[in-house]
Amino acid sequence: MINVGVTGASGRMGRLIIDNIIRSEDVCLVSAFDLTNIGMDAGEVAQVGNLDVMISDVSDMESVLKESATQVLIDFTIADATAANAPRAASCGVGLVIGTTGLSPEQKRTIEESIISNNVPAIISPNYSIGVNVFFKILSEAAKYLDEADVEVIEAHHKHKKDSPSGTALRAADVISEVMGGKEYVYGREGLSPRGKEIGIHAVRGGDIAGDHTVLFALEGERIEIKHQAHSRQAFAGGAVKAAAWIGNAEPGLYTMQDILGI
Ligand SMILES: NC(=O)c1ccc[n+]([C@@H]2O[C@H](COP(=O)([O-])OP(=O)(O)OC[C@H]3O[C@@H](n4cnc5c(N)ncnc54)[C@H](O)[C@@H]3O)[C@@H](O)[C@H]2O)c1
Repeated sequence: MINVGVTGASGRMGRLIIDNIIRSEDVCLVSAFDLTNIGMDAGEVAQVGNLDVMISDVSDMESVLKESATQVLIDFTIADATAANAPRAASCGVGLVIGTTGLSPEQKRTIEESIISNNVPAIISPNYSIGVNVFFKILSEAAKYLDEADVEVIEAHHKHKKDSPSGTALRAADVISEVMGGKEYVYGREGLSPRGKEIGIHAVRGGDIAGDHTVLFALEGERIEIKHQAHSRQAFAGGAVKAAAWIGNAEPGLYTMQDILGI
């Protein structure tokens, strides 16, 4: 059993991840952090019954991680919080599963440096669903044969999502750009905006959409659309818990969902 903590334990993803942890035979919940519901039981907040794990203030992170013998910390919060908290956890020798999106390149670099310098195993992924990681693989294969195509990435998410475009849309564009030898990105279009050789990226927000990503490869006279749709956040929560179990047994280093899923 791997001892796991959750940062963002009061949030939509954090609560669902706790629900998945208690149903897992590989991990158990030993610590929880947030800015809200401090002092409440994490299981009560997640509505899965009392777990005897109190939600702690992030300011107490180092002492709580040590006392609870947390081995892996799962972080689904906001970019500024992850940028501040992940290096603190790494400096305690704790492995990381980071799901927060919207990290700036600088924030991501700082977190990665702390992972390497503290010799811990970690994964930072914008999408923990199995399907999306197969989708990335399919995109890279398709891009090999479609270098003449105009590429557009269109994503849709619920109205509460803070960052846009989604980390998954950006990763999809990166996967294609890498195969096509490097592309500029254009975010949305308005007014006179003739198309060049760019990848267009478009974000739609509304209702409770869990997460849709469509990639359009458009040629003269035909097009291919490759689409992934998450039906619920369970797709991400299940994958994050699977990643935590894997990271808990891994050697120090930075891993991807491709490593974990063997894609
Ligand atoms: N990688 C994936 O597969 C995946 C899937 C879904 C969502 N996400 C990302 O996960 C993140 C969280 O999404 P959500 O829908 O659960 O959001 P949410 O707003 O419901 O939850 C975020 C939680 O983080 C807490 N928080 C904020 N600042 C904090 C801090 N400094 N310390 C500790 N806790 C803090 C908030 O109080 C809240 O409880 C977002 O970045 C979202 O894009 C990633």
